[in-house]
Amino acid sequence: MSTAISPTAYNYKVVRQFAIMTVVWGILGMGLGVFIASQLVWPQLNLDLPWTSFGRLRPLHTNLVIFAFGGCALFGTSYYVVQRTCQTRLISDSMAAFTFWGWQAVILGALITLPMGYTTTKEYAELEWPLAILLAIVWVTYGLVFFGTIVKRKTKHIYVGNWFYGAFIVVTAMLHIVNHISLPVSLFKSYSAYAGATDAMIQWWYGHNAVGFFLTTGFLGMMYYFVPKQAERPIYSYRLSIVHFWALITLYIWAGPHHLHYTALPDWAQSLGMVMSIILLAPSWGGMINGMMTLSGAWHKLRTDPILRFLVVSLAFYGMSTFEGPMMAIKTVNSLSHYTDWTIGHVHAGALGWVAMISIGAVYHMIPKLYGREQMHSIGLINAHFWLATIGTVLYIASMWVNGITQGLMWRAINDDGTLTYSFVEALQASHPGYIVRALGGAFFASGMLLMAYNVFRTVRAANPAQAEEAAKIVVVGAH
Ligand code: HEM
Ligand code: HEM
Repeated sequence: MSTAISPTAYNYKVVRQFAIMTVVWGILGMGLGVFIASQLVWPQLNLDLPWTSFGRLRPLHTNLVIFAFGGCALFGTSYYVVQRTCQTRLISDSMAAFTFWGWQAVILGALITLPMGYTTTKEYAELEWPLAILLAIVWVTYGLVFFGTIVKRKTKHIYVGNWFYGAFIVVTAMLHIVNHISLPVSLFKSYSAYAGATDAMIQWWYGHNAVGFFLTTGFLGMMYYFVPKQAERPIYSYRLSIVHFWALITLYIWAGPHHLHYTALPDWAQSLGMVMSIILLAPSWGGMINGMMTLSGAWHKLRTDPILRFLVVSLAFYGMSTFEGPMMAIKTVNSLSHYTDWTIGHVHAGALGWVAMISIGAVYHMIPKLYGREQMHSIGLINAHFWLATIGTVLYIASMWVNGITQGLMWRAINDDGTLTYSFVEALQASHPGYIVRALGGAFFASGMLLMAYNVFRTVRAANPAQAEEAAKIVVVGAH
């Protein structure tokens, strides 16, 4: 094995930029989550201003946590993983830099336009057409950088993590472009090209697959690299990972109609969505088991390694939310859960427990390597962060289960004479304690992010990025 220095060092600069912004946007997006959660406890926090009202800040929260926090984590880790597993540098530094700055520009655009009330009104696709076009251009460039790097790889096969990242990139482009087809009537107003039930179906085909490909498949790519790396064990079953990949991407795309149960959507489409959602449990759990079993023989590491704890607990929450989701997709269950806080709890079991925890684990894994340090500044602080995040997630989802089931049951309770037993306001009053617990859980989770920011700052301050790049060069040659 040679340790000579190869001329093909990795492009770590763009990875560092995305990793730092993951933490920054995480704090802002989750801080805003705590703020809107508090508005639901103390409505005075709407401040009687349109810009700070719940209705405008809620989509800003979802855009910041999904696209800014989650997006930066996905860009950063995919660029890191694709270079290391293909043992080659990204095909173009300038295109990679364009994706970083372009992505930040889209987010800045969201930060300005959403509080001003400019929105397409389509959930998770709120950005008006000029920003949507910029996003599409950045995304296509991302695809070119990612797949271009795969094409010039020095390894024979394509590591499974890259299959997941690749599917996430291709499908997100398809969803975004199809759902955004619209007629602009002014600089910040457009009308969807679709109407009625078709519009709803296209929107939830997009919405569900934003969950399936943005919030799941991309993060599974992360899982397939960082879990084995951190556990220092090979992936449990490579064969299972291939079955997992094809089954997951084949099934996800059909499950969207479970968001439209009991609507004007044709009944057969609703039932198809339900059936596909139930079958989806199998590949989801296959993937979770593959990740978990990778720890065979390394479970003892959980005692001392809080980064591994983040990664493993994220898989546990992934398993939980992908069990809950198929149950909620059953029409009779959905008739109770739909419109209630149960859905919100399910969302955050996935969002906090799975998406945020795996990203946090991956960033903690990468930062020392990106900045030429042995390890993070403080392992104790990572541990404190882990507990804040875990307790915060549990408080969030448990309070929303209680609220959701209470609301569902109260809304459908009927007296003997056919009148409603409870008014809407009574159900709202019953939800108040749950909203307090949720805000508290959110505050736990968000304060963990502040510890992370401090820990990252201390690690980066004492950093030696040049050494990180030198180390990477040696890895490139050494691995041959
Ligand atoms: C400190 C952490 C967080 C808090 C306190 C929080 C709080 C909230 C609140 C109060 C809502 C509105 C619920 C409603 O309308 O009744 C919401 C919605 C949402 N949040 Fe969060 N959130 C947090 C983190 C996250 C993260 C990290 C993600 C994604 C990665 C996320 C994704 C979402 C989504 C997708 C929705 C919309 C759900 C729906 O429409 O069903 N949140 N969040
Ligand atoms: C097998 C996997 C899953 C299935 C079958 C599934 C199913 C469902 C169902 C039935 C709903 C409620 C729809 C409604 O009543 O309106 C829902 C909502 C949601 N789920 Fe899942 N889920 C799964 C996994 C996940 C994961 C892992 C995440 C997050 C990372 C997630 C995020 C969401 C979001 C954001 C919503 C709310 C959408 C909205 O109304 O705004 N789901 N899911």
